[in-house]
Amino acid sequence: MGFHVNKNQNVFYSVKKYAFSAILLLITSHLYAATLTSFKPGKDWHDVDGKIIDCHAGNIIYQHETKTYFWFGEHRGSPSGASCYSSKDLYNWKFRGVALNTGSTQGLKGGFIERPKVAYNKKTGKYVMWFHYENAGSYGLAHQGVAVCDSAPGPYKFLEHFRPNGNQSRDIGMFNDEDGKTYIGYAANRGTSINADVRMVELSEDYLTVTKNDVVTNAHCEGPGVLKWNNKYYLLTSQCKGWDPNPATYYTSSKVCGTYTNMGNPCIGDTKKTTFNSQPGFIFKIPGYTNGFLYMGDRWNGGGSTKSQYVFLPIFITADGKMQLKWYDEWKLDVFTPTTDVKKTENSFKVLMYTNIINQSGLHAYDLIGRDIERALKNISADRKIMNINSGTAKNVVSNGMYIAR
Ligand code: GAL
Repeated sequence: MGFHVNKNQNVFYSVKKYAFSAILLLITSHLYAATLTSFKPGKDWHDVDGKIIDCHAGNIIYQHETKTYFWFGEHRGSPSGASCYSSKDLYNWKFRGVALNTGSTQGLKGGFIERPKVAYNKKTGKYVMWFHYENAGSYGLAHQGVAVCDSAPGPYKFLEHFRPNGNQSRDIGMFNDEDGKTYIGYAANRGTSINADVRMVELSEDYLTVTKNDVVTNAHCEGPGVLKWNNKYYLLTSQCKGWDPNPATYYTSSKVCGTYTNMGNPCIGDTKKTTFNSQPGFIFKIPGYTNGFLYMGDRWNGGGSTKSQYVFLPIFITADGKMQLKWYDEWKLDVFTPTTDVKKTENSFKVLMYTNIINQSGLHAYDLIGRDIERALKNISADRKIMNINSGTAKNVVSNGMYIAR
């Protein structure tokens, strides 16, 4: 009898335990989907509704009024086109729909779009989407397409597709300069050599078409992304290997359209020379950080698919102006230096804001106009609780703040 009672009790407790675990799992999986606090490059990435994010080879823009990021990219699932996601923190994304639906758009039907990029035009108040358009798998059309919308998420109104200034154009990138001008970097042919050149074309003032300022940059050849640092332009590209990852190259120039100088491979510790198994797509300058450059790469796994993962990594520029891309299994935005986090110090010490520039051998700090202050820091006493950069690792210095007085 006692045995039966115990058994029933056990069954009862087990059922209760499993029900409780199931509920807990439901709650935590929901919470997990809604509360990511870091990037995990190369891992499956789910949106806030728990679905795999389908937004490849695109770009991110920031809407200041609503403090919202919008991420655009190839929607490789059905319907095909360009997708839009929004986020408040860059980690947690909500699907906002297919912003440009290829199959239902007159002029795009029967073809496909790749590498969509969106820019906001301050003068017209419009969002403008540029993309690579093909009408067949042979990639022979080599067109750029353009679409426009009054709001970020779409739906975008398709305008036209064409060869910019008569040039073949496949992979495209986009760069918004501080003067409001926007440029499309694109993989173009050099004679019969496919995608041999990256050309840079300036967009018209309303961003709706291309200008005649369209030049060969001297860079090669796909997935172009641009950042600007210390009045220098950095152009990052991949090789032309289809869906296979390959070594990235970066180039620098004092002018956005070049001519660019080859600076080699920016990846540190990338033993397989595959840009950490990814292809570059865009470099997003994260607002609120002095040096917040986000590498947005795609892991195609031999063929673009809905599930192709994203490789988002921080890009650093070293003290001597070199671009560096390093692998992180997981990382947070605190690797960057916030622009607003200026700490007050006592007495006659003056606060300077430093940009963190990390190189392999340690950490160098520069003030906003680029003066090396490392020597000055050695003289600062510990009782002022000011980090001596020579005694900290790059990471803990960054997370403790990069503001040092003298
Ligand atoms: C890659 C390109 C992708 C896609 C692919 C097709 O080189 O970067 O966007 O076009 O080729 O093979």
